[in-house]
Amino acid sequence: MRRAAHQMVDERPLVLDDPWAVKILEPLLAVHGHNYEIKRSRHDVSKAFRSYLVGRSRYAEDALRLAYRGGVRQYVVLGAGLDTFALRNPFADLRVYEVDHPATQEWKRELMDEAGIDAPGDLRFAAVDFEHQAPGEGLARAGFDFERRAFFSWLGVTMYLTPAGFRATLGMIGRMAAGSAVSLDFSLPRRMLGSAERMALDRLAKRVESAGEPFQLFFSEAEIAGEFELAGFSRWEMLDGEAVNERYFSGRGDGLKLVGGAARLATAWIEQSNC
Ligand SMILES: C[S@@+](CC[C@H](N)C(=O)[O-])C[C@H]1O[C@@H](n2cnc3c(N)ncnc32)[C@H](O)[C@@H]1O
Repeated sequence: MRRAAHQMVDERPLVLDDPWAVKILEPLLAVHGHNYEIKRSRHDVSKAFRSYLVGRSRYAEDALRLAYRGGVRQYVVLGAGLDTFALRNPFADLRVYEVDHPATQEWKRELMDEAGIDAPGDLRFAAVDFEHQAPGEGLARAGFDFERRAFFSWLGVTMYLTPAGFRATLGMIGRMAAGSAVSLDFSLPRRMLGSAERMALDRLAKRVESAGEPFQLFFSEAEIAGEFELAGFSRWEMLDGEAVNERYFSGRGDGLKLVGGAARLATAWIEQSNC
């Protein structure tokens, strides 16, 4: 919804050019009659949250482009939700794997059918519950090649997992061939936040909990760096809201930008094989 609103109400140039974000929602908009996100899209809270969501997708896709230039030809979207990269894939020889919870994936495929969107030939689906199944098994069934390097995005997912579910997936990525990498986002723990950020996190946490998917995993930057190291990554970067604003939102006339926030973006790279 946020990515769709970005296409409809924000000034050009867009941070994330994603017309499919609108198209894939058509069946839902037809049922609900109007777009709630559009109605409130001028509110500051809505703008800040939308900025974060389009900023994080743009960040991961920029990292993917660099990985592609370095020779990566497999892209795994972990917890894909309604991500539409596969529909916009500009690289003829890049195979895209969407890994998601079976229920979400089924819902997305229904929406695509209803919206008349054909899955592109270079897209493979793998239904996996990160808490109860090894993501590698689902990927293997979908034809993923573990011997070749790959780029992974893992956006808006880590905070919903248990430490064990998180480590199982990060560990799998850490055993990939040199040249592989992952971009993800994570949330700082509540104790590290100022009062305005705490209120924003509490508000969002309440919403996702009432939707049946509570936030349950938080990391400080030092803690997640420890996880990267343990999993076998050799190098990583982290961006806070200010760094994301500098990279993607400076000089905009529509006031789109991240405001404070508990979220961090990170990319971690494997420079030598850990197999
Ligand atoms: C907030 S959505 C993010 C979707 C997408 N990555 C994006 O950036 O818009 C969270 C995604 O995490 C997935 N997810 C949450 N818990 C999961 C689990 N245990 N196993 C697999 N996927 C999970 C959901 O199915 C959903 O697609």
